[in-house]
Amino acid sequence: MSVSSPVTCVVVMGVSGVGKSTTAELLAERLGWPMAEADGFHPQPNIDKMSASIALTDADRIPWLHAIRDWISERAAAGESVVVTCSALKRTYRDVLRQADARVRFVYLHTTTGVVQRRIAGRSGHFMPPALLGSQFADLEALESDEDGVVVDPRASPGEVAETALVLLGLASPAPPDPPSPPAPPLPPTLLTSRRTTGA
Ligand SMILES: Nc1ncnc2c1ncn2[C@@H]1O[C@H](COP(=O)(O)OP(=O)(O)OP(=O)(O)O)[C@@H](O)[C@H]1O
Ligand SMILES: [Mg+2]
Repeated sequence: MSVSSPVTCVVVMGVSGVGKSTTAELLAERLGWPMAEADGFHPQPNIDKMSASIALTDADRIPWLHAIRDWISERAAAGESVVVTCSALKRTYRDVLRQADARVRFVYLHTTTGVVQRRIAGRSGHFMPPALLGSQFADLEALESDEDGVVVDPRASPGEVAETALVLLGLASPAPPDPPSPPAPPLPPTLLTSRRTTGA
């Protein structure tokens, strides 16, 4: 990890369905940084296993995490900061991502199983067996105090969640300056006259 690196990678982490993609898209848009989804970095053997509903082991995840880490480093070498979604449930997974040659910072979307269950139920095009969500929470190791990152409650609107993350990370753009006030309208002629006549 290179804390002094001027190039940053924001990793949006948390269990499946908590809102990582939704939040990361908004962060990338507001920061003007490219975004990648961790799912896109799985090697073929992992894709084959997942297609066959076989759970990935920690050993399976190593080449996947290395691929994400290397992509972060490649973009950083090109001077580009990025946003990545990655469940990054265990500290050892985050340790691999931190090996990237960039300042790797985490946005940990942290909430209850109930909130996530409702989100998954309301999401079209995805099916997730409840047991799988249980195993995600069982694996989840919260962001620790010595890790570079912030914890955000994802229950607010997507825009508010992204804004809170940016503020906590110190990456929110400063509010634009107030526009110059318009010139005062000319005084009506009657008022000008009355001032002249009173001599006040
Ligand atoms: N802040 C929010 N408020 C309300 N609904 C949200 C919010 N964020 C995300 N959602 C909804 O919750 C569902 C899950 O969100 P999303 O797909 O972003 O989660 P994810 O963590 O990327 O999931 P996965 O790990 O499966 O990729 C989606 O239907 C999304 O529209
Ligand atoms: Mg997602």
